[in-house]
Amino acid sequence: MAIYETHCHLNHPQFESDLDQVLQRAEASGIGRLLVVGYDMASSRRAISMANTHPNVVASIGIHPEDCSDWTDDNRDELISLANSGSSKSAAWGEIGLDFHWKTHDPEVQKKVFVQQLEIAKELNLPVIIHCRDAYDETIDILEACGTTRAVLHCFTGSVVQAQRAVSLGFSLGVGGVITYKNASDVREAAAAVPLDRILLETDSPFLAPQPWRGKRNEPSYITAVTAKLAELHGLSPDKIAEATWENAASFFN
Ligand code: NI
Repeated sequence: MAIYETHCHLNHPQFESDLDQVLQRAEASGIGRLLVVGYDMASSRRAISMANTHPNVVASIGIHPEDCSDWTDDNRDELISLANSGSSKSAAWGEIGLDFHWKTHDPEVQKKVFVQQLEIAKELNLPVIIHCRDAYDETIDILEACGTTRAVLHCFTGSVVQAQRAVSLGFSLGVGGVITYKNASDVREAAAAVPLDRILLETDSPFLAPQPWRGKRNEPSYITAVTAKLAELHGLSPDKIAEATWENAASFFN
């Protein structure tokens, strides 16, 4: 069994001091590949350099809606060249999207930065990793209007109806630690309603640790709790979940 962990931020300062141990524990827990996701300029550069130095790491780059001020012409050009650089070129563009919960930046500014990055991803023929909070309908509308076909709604917390609309447009859902939370029955319902071939496993480390580690720093090895809960929801073994979601991720980020 090998698990493809499709969304972690080992490029985050919280992993600076013990990255090697975190990677060792990831491997010991059965993770065969990790996608380190960029969210601003510094983390995007670091994701690419980690992919170039660690054989099991792949990278993505992009500007998160809470970091919209990083979206300048110069930075855009640097991200495009990072996407094409080195032996481990970027596997995806993201995470990008809309965050209407925090609204660190004006929603109209967020939409502009989001759409421009979707256009670039399309030109580069890269799948996109979507961050979305309190804005599912708007986000899916924009993806549809941009003609985006390869998108994962990371850490999906929308409704079953929104999940089904996303799937009907060809998108995948990222499922992480939230499905283990006591108060997250809607998220479990959505994860159970979606066909397994549209689900990618993730942790979003260092954030959103699954039970029993909720509230602590999350790390990729905790993904086994997510695999177990998803197995329960789909009535399959954890091995089968790992195998199916590996195939999904390998073809999505090819
Ligand atoms: Ni993330």
